[in-house]
Amino acid sequence: MKKVYIDTMGCQMNKSDTERMFGMLSCMDYTETTDPKDADLLMINTCSIRQLSEDKAFSMLGTWGKWKNEGKKIKIGICGCVAQQKAEKVFRRAPYVDFVLGTHKIYSLPEIIKQINNGERVCECTETHQTEDDKAFKFPINRVKAVNAWIPITEGCNNFCTYCIVPYTRGRERSRQPEIIIKEAKDALSQGFKEITLLGQNVDSYGKDFKDKNYRLAQLLRDINSIDGNFRIRFVTSYPTDITDELIETVVELDKVCEYFHIPMQSGSSEVLKAMNRRYDRETYAKIVEKVRKMVPDVTITSDFIAGFPGETEEQFKETLSAIDEFELDYSNTAAYSPREKTVAAKWVDKYIDEDVKTERLARLNEKVRENCLKSNLKFVGREMEVLVENFENHKGQNVITGRARNNKIVHIPCNDDLTGQFINVKITGAKTWYLKGELI
Ligand code: SAH
Ligand code: SF4
Ligand code: F3S
Repeated sequence: MKKVYIDTMGCQMNKSDTERMFGMLSCMDYTETTDPKDADLLMINTCSIRQLSEDKAFSMLGTWGKWKNEGKKIKIGICGCVAQQKAEKVFRRAPYVDFVLGTHKIYSLPEIIKQINNGERVCECTETHQTEDDKAFKFPINRVKAVNAWIPITEGCNNFCTYCIVPYTRGRERSRQPEIIIKEAKDALSQGFKEITLLGQNVDSYGKDFKDKNYRLAQLLRDINSIDGNFRIRFVTSYPTDITDELIETVVELDKVCEYFHIPMQSGSSEVLKAMNRRYDRETYAKIVEKVRKMVPDVTITSDFIAGFPGETEEQFKETLSAIDEFELDYSNTAAYSPREKTVAAKWVDKYIDEDVKTERLARLNEKVRENCLKSNLKFVGREMEVLVENFENHKGQNVITGRARNNKIVHIPCNDDLTGQFINVKITGAKTWYLKGELI
């Protein structure tokens, strides 16, 4: 048996692709190792959302290249979003790389492995306009041992937000067939997973490309909800203006679908949103959040924000801070703007915000997120919540189980039994910035 090590960067899409690649490799006599020094095949599944992630990928490749130049008999591959974007150019920068595999045709991996083991060098970065559902049926998925299973439902994105590389690295939006999604969900549940998270850059677009115009996300949720068993269903990410009333009603109606929406706003300023090519303004976002909160009791709404987008003024940045307060956003991912090759905003060099201003805005943004997260957590003290346990560990001498409530809040509970994978009822006794404290009832 040969050993393979895969380093996975970036979002859940990449994590899901890695699980599929491990699955394919397990059919080819490769076993997984967590020690890169021990591997015959080293792969990095890259992210290019920000320059920093791209730089990290090349730095890791450099280390592996050094091992190879020192005479270690290893093969090196790069996959994911940086691979898709750079294609053949990778060989110029990192000549020790044996293969480059983009994001569109991950099921070519077995063929590529055969070729590189014959001494060839391979680049497979062709774009496709179809999903690889037919191939997905043939291979196992070696999922990371956890409670939650990630299942992509759409690939790619058609939105072309002016800062974002994803439409270039993942291509045009395409929906996976319901049959394969339902099969993957059933397989995961039979392996003991207790939660299914449906993934897409814009999950509300699911099914737009199908002939059957009635089969959309709401219908898919109904079909998964009707699978037997006690489990939860989540879906990420929602594009604000694509959330339909039918979807919100479905979330309320279906018992397994959790009360949680990730609705990235990106900026609190309508002018900045326009420059970002987001199809809504502050008022429209406000209405959507208001509607979701009204229709879904106890819902948690989280967001993403970018600090220091080209041309962002101090006043406009302050609108982002006030948006977090006004819409009572429960948590937000944050990032300083990073110019990405090919994207529209990267060309506005004369409007770039100084690095130190960006850093300072990001720090203020993070402070606002912390403040609101605590505020949101405090609302749940004294309440009873159902928690799905994800983890058991000894923390500073005390045994603690950690899990999530239906609305995605993290809860820590002192407990001497490892209840991982079980649904428990908990009384919330306290709130910290990032989590709730509770006790078993
Ligand atoms: N499809 C999702 C986002 C996927 S990318 C959506 O529409 O919201 C995840 C997050 O990375 C984005 O929400 C954005 O906040 C951040 N991001 C994307 N490009 C970026 C860039 N060039 N610089 C900084 N942050 C970026
Ligand atoms: Fe990127 Fe915008 Fe698509 Fe999200 S919706 S992946 S931010 S282009
Ligand atoms: Fe995901 Fe990064 Fe690609 S966020 S889609 S891995 S650019």
